[in-house]
Amino acid sequence: MRPEDAVAAERLSSEGFFELDTRLAPRAGPDPEPRSPERGVQWVERTTHLLRTDPGGCWVAEVDGAMIGCATSSVRELMWTLATYVVRPGLQGQGIGKALLAAALHHGRGCLRGMLSASSDPKAIRRYRAAGFSLHPQMHLTGTVDRAAIPVVEKVRDGSAADFELMDSIDRRVRGAAHGPDHPLLRGMFRLVVSDTSTGSGYAYHAADGMPALLAATNRRTATRLLWECLAASGETVLVPHVTAANEWAIDVGLAARLDLAQDGYLALRNMRPPTPYLHHGSLL
Ligand SMILES: CC(C)(COP(=O)(O)OP(=O)(O)OC[C@H]1O[C@@H](n2cnc3c(N)ncnc32)[C@H](O)[C@@H]1OP(=O)(O)O)[C@@H](O)C(=O)NCCC(=O)NCCS
Repeated sequence: MRPEDAVAAERLSSEGFFELDTRLAPRAGPDPEPRSPERGVQWVERTTHLLRTDPGGCWVAEVDGAMIGCATSSVRELMWTLATYVVRPGLQGQGIGKALLAAALHHGRGCLRGMLSASSDPKAIRRYRAAGFSLHPQMHLTGTVDRAAIPVVEKVRDGSAADFELMDSIDRRVRGAAHGPDHPLLRGMFRLVVSDTSTGSGYAYHAADGMPALLAATNRRTATRLLWECLAASGETVLVPHVTAANEWAIDVGLAARLDLAQDGYLALRNMRPPTPYLHHGSLL
């Protein structure tokens, strides 16, 4: 993939995931919607970032010059992560995805560990398991936060670039690798909050609607505090995505906030256990 492919890749991925959501419906939750223009811009920004940091991890499949599939991935320290993986609807199931994933995995050949957030597409699941990934069911919490349930959140402050080294240390301890160059990108997209006390440290990025995009902490108490800080910023409805069974502290916060729990997709891992206390990012994990 080249930088000039990013916009076409965004259109392809938007089409592929909308088709997937429509195919897997009906299921719990709202009707599938195409990706919003705002999220499309963020997608292009994130992919352009990966093309800068990991040009060898980003691949497209083409027929007669037209893009029919893509996979983007990154390596952070000794961790390989898959960010995007899609083949044009109508051309799936013919081996194009297998070739794309092999190219992306080759970029991570020096890494012991691997992480990706898998959709519920049976074809994706086949590919990931065949590549040696363990599949951990992913849950999410949705609804309107009961404002009366929000505790007074102490020892949480706004973060800045001066916290990135601390955050990298937390990630090394919790998931085995730092996010390094991803932090400036994430900080441009989300609000960063940090908790750093004598007993524990942690950080969270959350969207304007309160959705935690990434959360890591050295203990559950700190993680709980940070998730409440995210939920306190929520409006009408909020989504807490990417919760694994290893993160019951997050389920407990969500249920205390009177959110509903549901299941969707998998956290797919290689050579590691589900990180905790940790809520992974969907594509930068
Ligand atoms: C996941 C995806 C990228 C894989 O690409 P692809 O070209 O379809 O993959 P391949 O054809 O190489 O492999 C598909 C596998 O599923 C099997 N398969 C094909 N049709 C299937 C179906 N309807 N149900 C279940 N399995 C199916 C194939 O036989 C193959 O398995 P095998 O190699 O063990 O025989 C593609 O299907 C896709 O874009 N899905 C929608 C978006 C998505 O879910 N992306 C993953 C995000 S994490």
